[in-house]
Amino acid sequence: MAACEAAAAAGMAAAAATARPVVLRHAGAVLAAMTSGLDTSVPNMARVYNYWLGGKDHFAADRAEAARLVALYPPLPALARENRAFLLEAAGWAARQGIGQFIDLGAGLPVSPSVHQAARAVLPAARVAYVDIDPVVLSRAVALLATGDGLAAVDADLRDPAAVLGHQGLRAVINPARPVCVILGAVVHFLDPDAACAVTAGYASLLAPGSCLVLSSLDRFSA
Ligand SMILES: C[S@@+](CC[C@H](N)C(=O)[O-])C[C@H]1O[C@@H](n2cnc3c(N)ncnc32)[C@H](O)[C@@H]1O
Repeated sequence: MAACEAAAAAGMAAAAATARPVVLRHAGAVLAAMTSGLDTSVPNMARVYNYWLGGKDHFAADRAEAARLVALYPPLPALARENRAFLLEAAGWAARQGIGQFIDLGAGLPVSPSVHQAARAVLPAARVAYVDIDPVVLSRAVALLATGDGLAAVDADLRDPAAVLGHQGLRAVINPARPVCVILGAVVHFLDPDAACAVTAGYASLLAPGSCLVLSSLDRFSA
């Protein structure tokens, strides 16, 4: 795990060199509506993020909220794209270490390239469980990803590592007794600091030796 952490730390250091603190408390409306379900008149965090990535899964309310947030902090779309680039690079790195299983926690709406595309560019048989709590994300992920080809869309709350790792849907493609690359991309900033520490420590303690944890986060706590 040390080598993976070093690689992740190097990636995040590079990202931090260009990033500025983001005061996410200004994004209260989006955070409150983060899992607004299928109501397209209410902004949804996954759809706002998809809009910044150039995806197609967003509606007028999401675009309006995205514009409001960018007015507060203009680098947000660039940070979203930089975050995606980091996650995909980290997934490729893990695959090059021989890790063939990936759990993408708080996966967000499917975008291309995806984690499984990045991993399978290195290891064609790589298996990926995409975990999210938002019905908007899950409905799209099931439609696009649940092909039975080593991919799964899993409806679970990432804050409960034991439940996630024991989830039947996840177990269909992931064997936690073998090394896994767990990805927490742009999601722990939705948790309070104690919960974020407990969650990351929980996964780290439950993973098999040789596993790695990839983590990216916006800075919720800087002024
Ligand atoms: C900003 S998106 C990040 C997408 C992707 N990880 C990335 O970095 O490109 C955050 C995602 O985390 C999901 N999420 C937030 N809290 C969650 C929780 N407790 N359990 C599972 N998913 C969660 C949201 O539904 C959303 O899809």
